[in-house]
Amino acid sequence: MLYVEILGNLPEMARDEVKAMLELGGGEIVGQDYLFLKVDASEKAFPFLDRLGLTHEYGDLLVEADSVDELLRKAREVEWPIEGTFKVDTETMANCRHDVPDLPRKLGAVIHAQGFRVNLSKPDTLVRVYCGERLYAGIRLRFFDPKDFERRKAHHRPFFRPISLHPRVSRALVNLTKAQRELLDPMMGAGGILIEAGLLGLKVYGVDIKPEMVEGAEINLRHYGVRDFELKLGDATRLEELFPGKEFEAVATDPPYGTAATLAGRRRDELYRAVLRSIYNVLKPSGRLAIAFPTSFDGKGEAEKLGFNMLGHYYQRVHKSLERYFYVFEK
Ligand SMILES: C[S@@+](CC[C@H](N)C(=O)[O-])C[C@H]1O[C@@H](n2cnc3c(N)ncnc32)[C@H](O)[C@@H]1O
Repeated sequence: MLYVEILGNLPEMARDEVKAMLELGGGEIVGQDYLFLKVDASEKAFPFLDRLGLTHEYGDLLVEADSVDELLRKAREVEWPIEGTFKVDTETMANCRHDVPDLPRKLGAVIHAQGFRVNLSKPDTLVRVYCGERLYAGIRLRFFDPKDFERRKAHHRPFFRPISLHPRVSRALVNLTKAQRELLDPMMGAGGILIEAGLLGLKVYGVDIKPEMVEGAEINLRHYGVRDFELKLGDATRLEELFPGKEFEAVATDPPYGTAATLAGRRRDELYRAVLRSIYNVLKPSGRLAIAFPTSFDGKGEAEKLGFNMLGHYYQRVHKSLERYFYVFEK
């Protein structure tokens, strides 16, 4: 059994991102305790879990219990797969129902009794305890270092535009499409979504109506080592003409939210409807679209009119004047 600890700011989106990766890698979420997911999957799922954006870490789940005493009793029966030294680290989630301050010391003693050495400053193995409704203990296999994503934030890119999603969110949008070969962003801006897709080894296609964005996105993609791309100057409402005969496996995009400059002279809702239609036309059957719209636009209704099926939508308040949904649609 595995565990995945998702991030707390977009928890439903994070959970569905894990689900999408398990659909590709084999496995399923079999339980949830706040931000802790219990996952039934084998090592074959690791390359897909390694793609995750809205996840803190994943690992091997070894013990589950309803009390501290039960956890310690079960921990004595486990053969702890520890390499080198270890440390016990507790995650007290907001719904924690148990008295855990002393638990790291007690569990550390149980594991130490099996012959393993503690190293609090630089352990080789991290034993993680989660406290929620229940208690869980396991071994961290992969930590998603925030610094890896931070260095791709908009202001660290050589071509800087402030209108950009956080790289973790861009990564999640890519994953929610379940893309395995390629991805199109028809309103790519500075290329934030395409960078995340390209780093996963996908071929990326991008379109923007502004020449400086097409140039800037290319500079950014090259800067992060993405080489397999095709970028075009053009209109996201006319994708059929830009890519004649092409059907895309997946599309992810973050359209402009409303200032006259970013809408390039169009009325906002008309632009959104036309973009949705054009994406539908170039998406292959069963292909997925991940897209953001302000809450004032009926994304679900408009997409369903075209034949899309909504798989999920996730609310985010960005600031006082911008609230949006991230939608996942299937053709
Ligand atoms: C919110 S930005 C995308 C930001 C991008 N995700 C990033 O990380 O940099 C929206 C982009 O849509 C572009 N755009 C606006 N109308 C368009 C249209 N009709 N066709 C293609 N691109 C368009 C704008 O030029 C802008 O760069």
